[in-house]
Amino acid sequence: MPDLREGCMTGKPLEDTTPADALVLFGAMGDLAHKKIFPALYHMVRRGHLDAPVIGIARAGRTNTHLIERARDSVQKQDSNVDQEALATLLKLLRYVGGDYQDPETFHLLKKTLGSASRPAHYLAIPPSLFTSVVESLAKSNCMKDARVIVEKPFGHNLASARRLNAALHAVLPESRIFRIDHYLGKEAVLNLLFFRFANSFLEPIWNRNYVESVQITMAEKFGVEGRGKFYDATGAIRDVVENHMLQVVGFLAMEAPTGLYCDSIRDEQVKVFRTIPALDPKHLVRGQFKGYKSEEGVARDSTVETFAAIRLEIQSWRWSGVPFLIRAGKCLPVTATEVLVKLRKPPLDTLAGNTSNYFRFRLGPRDVSLSLSAHIKRPGEELVSLPAKLTAVERQTADEMDAYERLLGDAMHGDSMLFVREDAVEAAWAIVEPILDKAGALHSYEPGSWGPHEADRLTRDLGGWNNPE
Ligand code: BG6
Repeated sequence: MPDLREGCMTGKPLEDTTPADALVLFGAMGDLAHKKIFPALYHMVRRGHLDAPVIGIARAGRTNTHLIERARDSVQKQDSNVDQEALATLLKLLRYVGGDYQDPETFHLLKKTLGSASRPAHYLAIPPSLFTSVVESLAKSNCMKDARVIVEKPFGHNLASARRLNAALHAVLPESRIFRIDHYLGKEAVLNLLFFRFANSFLEPIWNRNYVESVQITMAEKFGVEGRGKFYDATGAIRDVVENHMLQVVGFLAMEAPTGLYCDSIRDEQVKVFRTIPALDPKHLVRGQFKGYKSEEGVARDSTVETFAAIRLEIQSWRWSGVPFLIRAGKCLPVTATEVLVKLRKPPLDTLAGNTSNYFRFRLGPRDVSLSLSAHIKRPGEELVSLPAKLTAVERQTADEMDAYERLLGDAMHGDSMLFVREDAVEAAWAIVEPILDKAGALHSYEPGSWGPHEADRLTRDLGGWNNPE
């Protein structure tokens, strides 16, 4: 069975496919590195996918030992059954470079530490406000030649800043060497949507406005901002997860079939979906903030930033015209679960089916991935009446499953950009949310542990209400 990836790598110039010979991690002592990046690197080493040096850049005043301890702690916290040999190998690959990101000296030191490495991958796991100056300093200090740059989300703060950032990156390196991360694109469950849709033929005849009544995506998180108050208060739910993760899921659900025969087919189809979504109308947005948010550390006491957002959008394409797509994302909701519900139109006569619809329900995490199909069957027994039944397939997460960060880091180090957000897609996504950024519309408070403000119900009133993940 050919790997989709092969299509993406064939025919590329050699310089685009040669693996990186060093990984430079900006923000090595940060939260993201601790939660996601070191565990991903450890698994890469464990699978024999990483043997290049990892240069961790962080504030001055730390040492190599601090970096090693931080990485060890990160891996041990994520894995109760650590492969000590792999961990030791990872720790040996680490080199610390300390300094201010604004100071040219930091970059001279980096250049020296890179030694003979000539094709580094620079991973910017730092606040977006620092991206441009770091990239410029990398270029000035000669660390950018043949390098790749991996950029964390959020990519910009709005459409104008995303464009500026794209221009700043393109001033020093071509698009083929820029890897914009949206870790949802590396998730097993999200990639599964692509396979479910396009590796089967039974779905295509019904996957359109003639059979689909509505599509709902809920990203519920039981926890709050978990020590990330400062970041979150400058970001909010729309910038944090709607503009990126949620729209990528919409893209996978709504796109036309990628051919797999040329490198950018998936990204081309994804951007085509974004271009057919009109800019959101604030009328179709409900914002909420959980009670107690303003007392979180790092959050302004009078903050009006949303921790919950619900939106209704449309896709103006031949396939989807008239089908409402709903997105709901929030912190401090009753459960942690991301779920998609694709509701099918009712049969024309309700003699047998009663008043309920068929649907597909995709559970995208956390952990297990599942797919349910609701159907009507005959209720067993004497009566000739129907009974709603559910067929569910569950794929249990295994300990060895590849996490999104591991997949994406490996891809970026090998120059495979298929699962990264392209320049045009990131700008098209910002254009969709632009009118609802910056406190568009009222902010409603909600109780932690509830499903958000009840005002959100108006968005789905004509569709039978919101689907709460099971
Ligand atoms: C991140 C957001 O991008 O995604 C977080 O900044 C959010 O606020 C997280 O919690 C969710 O990712 P996952 O993989 O845990 O679903």
